[in-house]
Amino acid sequence: MASEVQIFEGALDKGLEGIVACSTAVSSIQGNTLNYRGYTIENLAEKSTFEEVIYLLWNDKLPTAEELTQFKAQLVSEMELPADFINVLKNLPTQNVHPMAWLRTAVSLLAHWDKDANDMDTAAFKRKSLRLTAKMGTIVCAFEAIRNKRELLAPKKDKSMAWNFMYMLKGTEPKADHVKVFDTCLILHADHELNCSAFATRVTASSLSDLHSAIVSAIGALKGPLHGGANEQVMIMLKKIGTIEKAQAFVKDALQAKEKVMGIGHRVYKNGDPRAAILRKMSEKMTAEIGEPIWYQMSALIDDTMFSEKGLMPNVDFYSATVYYCMGIPTDVYTPIFAVSRIAGWCAHAQEQYANNRIYRPRGKWVGKSGLTK
Ligand code: COA
Repeated sequence: MASEVQIFEGALDKGLEGIVACSTAVSSIQGNTLNYRGYTIENLAEKSTFEEVIYLLWNDKLPTAEELTQFKAQLVSEMELPADFINVLKNLPTQNVHPMAWLRTAVSLLAHWDKDANDMDTAAFKRKSLRLTAKMGTIVCAFEAIRNKRELLAPKKDKSMAWNFMYMLKGTEPKADHVKVFDTCLILHADHELNCSAFATRVTASSLSDLHSAIVSAIGALKGPLHGGANEQVMIMLKKIGTIEKAQAFVKDALQAKEKVMGIGHRVYKNGDPRAAILRKMSEKMTAEIGEPIWYQMSALIDDTMFSEKGLMPNVDFYSATVYYCMGIPTDVYTPIFAVSRIAGWCAHAQEQYANNRIYRPRGKWVGKSGLTK
């Protein structure tokens, strides 16, 4: 007779805090250092591009110049959406629908246009990862175009993913410095060890379900305000506070009421999120450049107050909100942008899961009634 599986109850109702749920070589958090495939996030943010980072996450090595040129060409050639698919998207409601919910539906629909959708072969997986990653930004831009009743522009083949996203989102050519900032934001958000949406990706992939299903699970997880949805909530909060004078009182009232201050705190980083440090500098510079330093000043005051009152520090969502604001990006598109970048990490995690799979099947501790009869 097979022996009973041993049960560990240490993490019960604690959100699996401190539990190592799988081995991974995609990205790691050590102290307050984040590495993608062994490269620090500071190094990549300064020296790399989003396309190069995607290649790194998927191939466990940086591309040569020739490999990068080829990879960029492949990505940009997959950015356009099938015409029939756009026609279906045009019939989806956009009013009173959050763009993350719309994105979740659209990515699920996109599977019906992918001839490899149900092919679990490694080569098919690579093609799907490339298509999904290339098209994610275009889908978000399609939402923006459709709700504003304008045609979606076609991506330009000689431009980067960051350039094309900003071009298709706004319908005009972006400023070079905004493209650079946006590209850095994409790098910073591309992966983050076993975060909630990467875990959701892996859980779905672990049943040997297809990649589109795994990515739809991930989008659903990212949408929540405790994960990717926090960046949008930060900007909503800053606008609600309105003035620097009210910022400290807002924080103290929130803490008193046991409410969460969005963009603050982290399950793993207790001494600061390295991405927030990079974004903080970008926020300070950009809010000054657009003549609205108040947004950075208010953020910095909230940051300081949260630290002195509670010892908590900002996460990636805190200063990214004001960076996106400075680029004129609509507030409800902040979280979809997170998905445009994090798809790179989700695909890397799915690849790793399929390569060494065992289905995720934890236990639940029974706390309900027993022994009832009808
Ligand atoms: N505002 C106010 N208090 C916060 C807080 C925040 N943003 N984040 C954590 N805390 C407090 C909790 O109330 C709790 O206090 P207590 O011990 O006095 O009850 C303590 O800090 C631990 O918080 P907890 O919610 O258990 O931490 P967690 O590890 O489960 O959650 C987050 C981590 C990120 C979900 C949490 O910090 C949070 O909700 N932050 C705001 C949402 C956000 O920015 N999400 C993006 C994450 S990248």
